[in-house]
Amino acid sequence: MRRLLIAGNWKMHKTIPEALDLVRELKELVKDVNDRDILVCPPFTALYPVSRELEGSNIVLGGQNMYFEEQGAFTGEISPLMLKDAGCSYVILGHSERRHIFGETDELVNKKVLSAINHGLIPILCVGELLEERESGKTQEVVEKQVREGLKGVDGDNEFVIAYEPVWAIGTGKTATPELAEEVHLFIRQVLSDMFGSEKANSVRILYGGSVKPENAAGLLNMENIDGALVGGASLKAESFAKIVKFDMEA
Ligand code: PGA
Repeated sequence: MRRLLIAGNWKMHKTIPEALDLVRELKELVKDVNDRDILVCPPFTALYPVSRELEGSNIVLGGQNMYFEEQGAFTGEISPLMLKDAGCSYVILGHSERRHIFGETDELVNKKVLSAINHGLIPILCVGELLEERESGKTQEVVEKQVREGLKGVDGDNEFVIAYEPVWAIGTGKTATPELAEEVHLFIRQVLSDMFGSEKANSVRILYGGSVKPENAAGLLNMENIDGALVGGASLKAESFAKIVKFDMEA
């Protein structure tokens, strides 16, 4: 059985005091949840204070991006060592905003994935098609390329997570239907099976992301191949994120 992972991607939101308020509230709301993993990914400046606040809790910490080198003359970048130092165990890589606003390529994302693994961070590799790619029937082609190129050189013994985030569903309020998402998740699992064998493919968690909210979480998370969620907007309030974490539990 794959353990669910519910992850909050705060993007470029929250000052340090705001971040601490959010995790203090969240900790209390999810303190009894122990059968799934809960992850928050604040902006870099809030990582260390948030990690101190999360000590001893059931919530883990991740970065939203990193550079693949350990150190050096890379102005404005953050290394895997720095993320670990700040208390991270996960890192989101290849998010569609990185790809489309900052021009990240599959090749760069792959270097980051390999570096994260080499430094003991669990990468969450994000993949997903644009609206025009979906409309022209290219969803599988696009997603397969991102998965294969993003994971090039990765060993089947290494832990990684995939997040399927159709770009047209991110921050737009348009969620993929559970059936439509499930179809792509199943396809990704088939690609993983071809790359790493079926045992590994069946153990990899594939998250769905794109306008996940308390109202649609259960429908998505009840699908067989949807093993968690990567939540943007709805992770910025403790109450709505906790509701998604506890989508199948009594209120
Ligand atoms: P959203 O963002 O939930 O606000 O659509 C998801 C994401 O970009 O990870």
